Amino acid sequence: MKKILITGGAGFIGSHVVRLFVNKYANYQIVNLDKLTYAGNLANLKDVESKSNYTFIKGDIVDAAFINQLFAEHKFDAVIHLAAESHVDRSISNPLEFVMTNVIGTVNLLNAARNEWKDNYAAHRFYHVSTDEVYGTLGETGMFTETTAYDPHSPYSASKASSDHFVRAYHDTYGMDAVISNCSNNYGSHHFPEKLIPLSIHNIKNNKPIPIYGKGENVRDWLWVEDHARAIDVIFHNAKTGSTYNIGGHNEWTNIDLIHVLCKIMDKKLNRPEGESAKLITFVKDRAGHDLRYAIDSTKLQKELGWVPSLQFEEGLEKTVDWYLTNEEWLNNVTSGDYKKYYEQQYVKR
Ligand code: NAD
Ligand code: TYD
Repeated sequence: MKKILITGGAGFIGSHVVRLFVNKYANYQIVNLDKLTYAGNLANLKDVESKSNYTFIKGDIVDAAFINQLFAEHKFDAVIHLAAESHVDRSISNPLEFVMTNVIGTVNLLNAARNEWKDNYAAHRFYHVSTDEVYGTLGETGMFTETTAYDPHSPYSASKASSDHFVRAYHDTYGMDAVISNCSNNYGSHHFPEKLIPLSIHNIKNNKPIPIYGKGENVRDWLWVEDHARAIDVIFHNAKTGSTYNIGGHNEWTNIDLIHVLCKIMDKKLNRPEGESAKLITFVKDRAGHDLRYAIDSTKLQKELGWVPSLQFEEGLEKTVDWYLTNEEWLNNVTSGDYKKYYEQQYVKR
């Protein structure tokens, strides 16, 4: 029996990790700690909420006293830390919130873990889930490996880089068993529609413009979210202490090419004439400091731990579209209220 704290489990990736662990490991107690910000949604976990090995706790990782108390009460064996502010555009308008949650929140968790685990680090594990954006941007060639120097550009990636450094520092300084993974862009179900793919699906469905920053030439390496969750499972259970793994799909797309594929799928699903959805593509002012290209070399993970992505992109994209079209209520719930205000500020003023 193991008791594992998963932070940010009500968010996009966290909900897939919680679902995988709750269903796969009946002998683990999974505690999901989430503040339920705009990005956290308990509806993401409806299918597991009544399972006996799952508990949800609402709380803020920035609140150190609360976190210390939580660790003292629950005696966690391990932490899988996903809670974060995750959207680059929001980090540009409000960097401090990213410092608070991503840096201070992570250090609060590390301190509480250190306090509880210091007499037996070997029996505990702190797994920090991070992003490839800490490596900065690539030119037209090359890939990020685990030894690429950190070079973050956005307030989001700077805050994630800082949290990664703190996790490594607690391993190197205190001997905490810590592991980090840096993953490329995820896509799939339950993705909040401020990010490129779900936002575009939502807008195409409603015949609204699809905003493409700059010329749409930026490249991202897209990974099916369930493949990320499987990688987290494999790394959590098998990685050596102090190690880092890159996770990616070997699946690079320029934003504009990706959106054209998506428009084609949407035309088919919505019974529109071919080319209809693509008419909604609208080029808008570029994101400040917009990284040109991300590409992950996940050879280490594939060779050492045997993980490989399971889905081809077009198949995954079609599954994603199907999920959004059959889960209208989920989409309507998250796009009411605050979402409208965010959308107006982010796009209409341009
Ligand atoms: P998300 O924004 O969908 O979810 C984040 C979750 O954290 C939400 O449920 C939110 O309520 C919770 N949260 C935020 N602040 C909190 C706080 N102060 N206390 C407690 N909970 C809080 O994010 P995501 O896309 O699922 O990303 C999860 C993690 O994976 C993040 O650490 C992110 O940096 C990393 N990551 C994301 C991607 C991606 O493509 N989305 C890629 C690589 C790594
Ligand atoms: P996003 O989904 O925000 O992920 P990230 O910035 O973490 O990579 O953006 C993916 C790419 O799509 C990125 O190059 C920015 C671009 N993008 C647009 O062109 N328009 C949009 O409305 C959004 C949200 C993103």
